[in-house]
Amino acid sequence: MKMRLQKFLAKAGIASRRTSEKLILNGKVKVNGNVITQLGTKVDPEQDIVTVNSKVAKIENRKVYIALYKPKGYITTLADPQGRKKVSDLIKNVKERVYPVGRLDYDTEGLLLLTNDGDFAYTLTHPKHKIKKVYLAKVQGIPSENDLEKLRTGILLSDGITAPAEAFILKTCDHNAIVKITIYEGRNRQVRRMMEAINHPVLHLKRIKIGNLDISNLKVGQYRFLSKREVENFLNHATAKVDKP
Ligand code: URA
Repeated sequence: MKMRLQKFLAKAGIASRRTSEKLILNGKVKVNGNVITQLGTKVDPEQDIVTVNSKVAKIENRKVYIALYKPKGYITTLADPQGRKKVSDLIKNVKERVYPVGRLDYDTEGLLLLTNDGDFAYTLTHPKHKIKKVYLAKVQGIPSENDLEKLRTGILLSDGITAPAEAFILKTCDHNAIVKITIYEGRNRQVRRMMEAINHPVLHLKRIKIGNLDISNLKVGQYRFLSKREVENFLNHATAKVDKP
């Protein structure tokens, strides 16, 4: 969205609006290489290159990090041709354009992170970082120790063998079991496909943890901002395995 040059300079932290006006009148400000002395000039912060005394002025977006308890029945993409509900519909009163980090299936509930920090999203989704994700999967039938061992050692799926996972039965009820499964990859529908491969299809799936962040303080559909400290701790914790020699 276009804005007046003096407002842009103030937002970019160059000077107050009044002082910015003086800089403009004194010919210190260029837009796309041309000196601008007209105070009303409008600029597009996304497109125009503004310099003050030859240094580029930029409006830095505040970085936001959100932990959301995604309910079932929401998609994690930002648009849906079928018009289904989107996780972004749940994020109210946040000016920044945040996007989901990774994905959860439409029918999966649980912890989803959203951010406008591309580096953070990249770290989280890059396979080399092996970010831990913990799920509770209600499955049909009761997997045997042999089945669980297959999940732990690796299962051949259509896109290759899965990396070792942790898996154990939390409880059983009637003819179903709740399996707590921890994976370090983020393949499409991975937990559902792993469970199908051992012939115990998922009836219900919930992600309860990513790295050291868990969902325990949130109710379904609720979200909260992560503090700077939480983000730092998260990244230290999550990437420690890779940084160690
Ligand atoms: N694994 C799945 O099968 N679905 C998800 O949404 C997340 C992990």
